[in-house]
Amino acid sequence: MILVLDFGSQYTQLIARRIRELKVYCEIHPFNITHDEIKNLNPKGIILSGGPSSVLGESSPTIDKEIFEWGIPILGICYGLQLMAKLLGGRVESSSSSEYGKTEITIKKNNLFFKNIPDKNTLTVWMSHGDRVIEIPDDFEILAESNNSPFAAVADVDRKLYGIQFHPEVTHTDHGIEILKNFVFGVCQCDPTWNMESFKETKIKEIQDQVGNEKVLCALSGGVDSSVTAVLLHQAIKDNLICIFVDNGLLRKDEARKVVELFKKHYHINLIHINASEIFWEKLKGVADPEEKRKIIGIEFINIFEKEASKLEGIKYLAQGTLYPDVIESVSFKGPSAVIKSHHNVGGLPEEMKMSLVEPLRELFKDEVRELGVSLGLDEELVYRHPFPGPGLGIRILGEITREKIEVLQEADHIVMEEIKKAGYYRKVWQSFAVLLPVRSVGVMGDARTYEWTIAVRCVSSIDAMTADWVQLPYELLGKISNRLINEVQKINRVVYDITSKPPGTIEWE
Ligand code: XMP
Repeated sequence: MILVLDFGSQYTQLIARRIRELKVYCEIHPFNITHDEIKNLNPKGIILSGGPSSVLGESSPTIDKEIFEWGIPILGICYGLQLMAKLLGGRVESSSSSEYGKTEITIKKNNLFFKNIPDKNTLTVWMSHGDRVIEIPDDFEILAESNNSPFAAVADVDRKLYGIQFHPEVTHTDHGIEILKNFVFGVCQCDPTWNMESFKETKIKEIQDQVGNEKVLCALSGGVDSSVTAVLLHQAIKDNLICIFVDNGLLRKDEARKVVELFKKHYHINLIHINASEIFWEKLKGVADPEEKRKIIGIEFINIFEKEASKLEGIKYLAQGTLYPDVIESVSFKGPSAVIKSHHNVGGLPEEMKMSLVEPLRELFKDEVRELGVSLGLDEELVYRHPFPGPGLGIRILGEITREKIEVLQEADHIVMEEIKKAGYYRKVWQSFAVLLPVRSVGVMGDARTYEWTIAVRCVSSIDAMTADWVQLPYELLGKISNRLINEVQKINRVVYDITSKPPGTIEWE
């Protein structure tokens, strides 16, 4: 494995993803993990990430320079390069002319590190730095330079220490992948053996070792993460897996039936199906505030789940579909970002449940979970499902929720999905859905005046939901969706298309 020590760069996750794309396992840990922890991980190479601090600052994040003596290949990227240079006796200064964005570098020495790069010696790379190295440590040589960075790439080849001022992990860097490949395969001598099949086999064994003959409880929502968790656990421990599926009455059309059919009838998984719709609807009566609705749905879910779980005796383990970005988020030292919405999902169960956690997906990124789902035999339709928020349609009906509104939105959402799929857009976009705006406007249908509600159609592209853009769907498709919504859904006489990106908007309307 390759270990990435995180100094807080916005690109740290990207480094890990790129390495995994090379079929080499990679983990991110904070820069200050102990030497014992590093040795236990037994990495074949270490990457020091970039970061927002300056190595010239008094309390900037640092490491013990002893690790450079271990003989493990190390690549410092940006801040990582500057830190390595400073710790090993070079000099760094705060530069008056920083380099941000695309920059040309000239390769001075075409050794292992720049192998397999087509025969030109200038590359366009992505830089983002204020400080720069002005003197390299003894034994280091220059591999590349830029106008503003005489030491754009440097190395002490004997000690297998490399440093680059640019970011090979971003797509704007020419041949960035080749450079990472050269480090991972050439310098670190890793083998490209990490894939989903091997991950699956290892995980199944790990789960069996962890839980033995004990029973494991899993909250199943029918979404990708909890479905993959459940099927993986089922392969590992068969009937010792018990799933609880809480239908909150805010799911998509026919969803509850499909979940029960798939997991109970098809997979023969022990599934307890709780239809709690009435309870949720009752609690939500008269509540219009989005945050209050989110909180009620979240709390009620936990209450019901706990009540059902307490009926089952002697369960020591709780399975959760926690993913790698959540794990990194909780250990990173970037600090909490402002709460825009209180997210709720089935993973957020209370600590008081006093069960040990089984989190078989905690090393995976979302696209890897999908790959694992496919290798477990899950249907592509389920595996490539668009994200669906924990509070469900509850946050896509603006203001107060009523049964009638839920039914209207379920029909509308169903039509939007059908048309997006038919037009071949489903797999191309991040998320698409309908939102019910219960404001009434005047229309005319069949010579009669109408006074009904509006549906907003939302379709966005995104990589990680942190930012998103609205998709330029063809007018013809928008026209078809609009016609069907007005003709087929009672109570709707107007359709609008949401053309707000995130930021400033959010993906969901509430
Ligand atoms: P926003 O609306 O914050 O949404 O731009 C970002 C992504 O998160 C999903 N989302 C949720 N997912 N529980 C979830 O599991 C929630 O409470 C929740 N709220 C929003 C949203 O669908 C989008 O993909």
